[in-house]
Amino acid sequence: MQLIEPSAGMFEHNIQMTAEKPQKSGETFGGKTLVSRDSRRTVGDISVEDPRMFCRNVDVFYGDKQAIKNVSLEIGYNEVLAMIGPSGCGKSTFIRCLNRMNDTIAGCRVSGEILLDGKNIYAKDVDVVPLRAQVGMVFQKPNPFPKSIYDNVAYGPRIHGLAESKAELDEIVETSLVKAGLWNEVKDIMNQSGTSISGGQQQRLCIARAIAVSPEIILMDEPCSALDPIATSVIEDLMDELRKQYTIVIVTHSMQQAARVSQRTAYFHMGDLIEVGPTPMIFTRPSHQLTQDYITGRFG
Ligand SMILES: Nc1ncnc2c1ncn2[C@@H]1O[C@H](COP(=O)(O)OP(=O)(O)OP(=O)(O)O)[C@@H](O)[C@H]1O
Ligand SMILES: [Mg+2]
Repeated sequence: MQLIEPSAGMFEHNIQMTAEKPQKSGETFGGKTLVSRDSRRTVGDISVEDPRMFCRNVDVFYGDKQAIKNVSLEIGYNEVLAMIGPSGCGKSTFIRCLNRMNDTIAGCRVSGEILLDGKNIYAKDVDVVPLRAQVGMVFQKPNPFPKSIYDNVAYGPRIHGLAESKAELDEIVETSLVKAGLWNEVKDIMNQSGTSISGGQQQRLCIARAIAVSPEIILMDEPCSALDPIATSVIEDLMDELRKQYTIVIVTHSMQQAARVSQRTAYFHMGDLIEVGPTPMIFTRPSHQLTQDYITGRFG
């Protein structure tokens, strides 16, 4: 039998033979004519009535490679904004812009305008330490410090000098744990290590740690991807409670989760913000063909 070395050309040919016929632009979905896949201009209302965060023409580069392209978006008070899109589209890159976490990545360059309550967070005089307290972050993998549960929550208030007495610090720790829905489970084991509790409890501990410094915004990058469905549902309920006081931005790969927890959804695709709008509309009546592809499972 003769073996044939596969060549790139062969696969291209196969793809042409088997791939779905590209759709023409102007396809309709739910009675609506969709914006063509070729268009990269953001569809939908990027603005909110009373923005807490205001982003304009944000570009992010890693070296020569552009990961975020001219993104403009506002984030309002008391809302949960979900960011969705295929892997590598720039969700983590964009969320990290919001508290200057990209500053810590060598070769990463951010340009454009990002305002928090009207003030440019990239201005020269901005100290990133208090900024990151104001715009807290909860990561994909719970990352409690190897310290007691108490000290995990007390850490931020201590370094920011938020408590004048031990009693005041105790009060902040307790209130934060209550808000994070963890107090009843840990109140008798406050001296136990933060790393000794379950994954779902650790994630709530990290949320309590973020809340303890009275942030304005909480950024969450796939906060439930390491959790089981029960722990996930506890965190989702918590987000709904927390949004009464904080603005929350969540990156999620779960469209069900985005639909459950958020009021607005932003769909990213290869560094572009393709569409943003009220969550029910994005999931049932999107306006852009790329959004429709994603929500119907055709892409990503
Ligand atoms: N530290 C880095 N150095 C260089 N390139 C990076 C770095 N981080 C991300 N990128 C690139 O930037 C683009 C966007 O990545 P990003 O991590 O923001 O995507 P994402 O939407 O969060 O993906 P995922 O859903 O897989 O987490 C990708 O092409 C990625 O390879
Ligand atoms: Mg990511």
